[in-house]
Amino acid sequence: MEKKPIGIIGGSGLYNLEGLEVIEHVKVDTPWGEPSDEYVKTRYGERVIYFLPRHGRNHDIPPHRVNYRANIWGFRKLGVERIIGVSAVGGITKKPGDIVIPDNFLDFSKQRPLTFYEGKYTVKSEEFDIPAEEQDRVLLALFHGKVVHIDVSRPFCPQTREILIRAAGDVYVDVYPHGTYALMEGPRLETPAEIQFLKTIGADVVGMTMTTEAVLARELELCYAGINVVTNWAAGISTHKLTTEEVVATMRENTEKVKKILVRAFETWQDERLCLCKDALKGTVM
Ligand code: HPA
Repeated sequence: MEKKPIGIIGGSGLYNLEGLEVIEHVKVDTPWGEPSDEYVKTRYGERVIYFLPRHGRNHDIPPHRVNYRANIWGFRKLGVERIIGVSAVGGITKKPGDIVIPDNFLDFSKQRPLTFYEGKYTVKSEEFDIPAEEQDRVLLALFHGKVVHIDVSRPFCPQTREILIRAAGDVYVDVYPHGTYALMEGPRLETPAEIQFLKTIGADVVGMTMTTEAVLARELELCYAGINVVTNWAAGISTHKLTTEEVVATMRENTEKVKKILVRAFETWQDERLCLCKDALKGTVM
């Protein structure tokens, strides 16, 4: 049986997966507009891996302007069922250089589209209008302009997380197997008071992108798990001014570890989905 493709989203400081054979760059159009960049189609053994740089290959898309819906829809169009999002984060209870596989999140986004399902305001597209026998739950909900309240009791895919945690163990890369990711809208960094607040309510790391991706993936019944690389102490914990140079430099220092985890994950991947992500829309459509 053909192996299922895997989707990787790279964040600040991770703009490609060098070492993997590039097959082609794939441009994908979506009902929500253009993804951040072309998807880089690569191969690991028999398996296709699609890589997308979240901020574009030249890092010219800020976090609040990333077309998250297009990015996630693009993976679906390419036949990807599972996505791993790699992102740089500020450390609140974790220190620079640490890697966290988060299992929970706090979402303080305000101004970005957070759902595919906008009821009667849902975008119209020929992509949703296909013969009934080919419709799946996602297309049906979009075609009929449904309202969806997706469940995020387990915000990140448990099975994909498990694959990542085991892979890290296999290649002797230390990761924290639990952690709460707090999303702040950005693009500015946080104030010390905001970080103190986030700490008080249980956040371990802070970033600007990941919860949006996790929710949108779940809405399309795709699996999503994150790898967070702590690139700096968050504001107020750090004694110096935060710079994007520091973020990108620390990310670069740690990309080898991330790639080791990813490669081992590709080797130990499970195509069969035993998680609930694949049925996420069941019972959630109004
Ligand atoms: N805050 C928010 N996002 C981030 C940070 C931070 O300190 N570092 C990397 N991404």
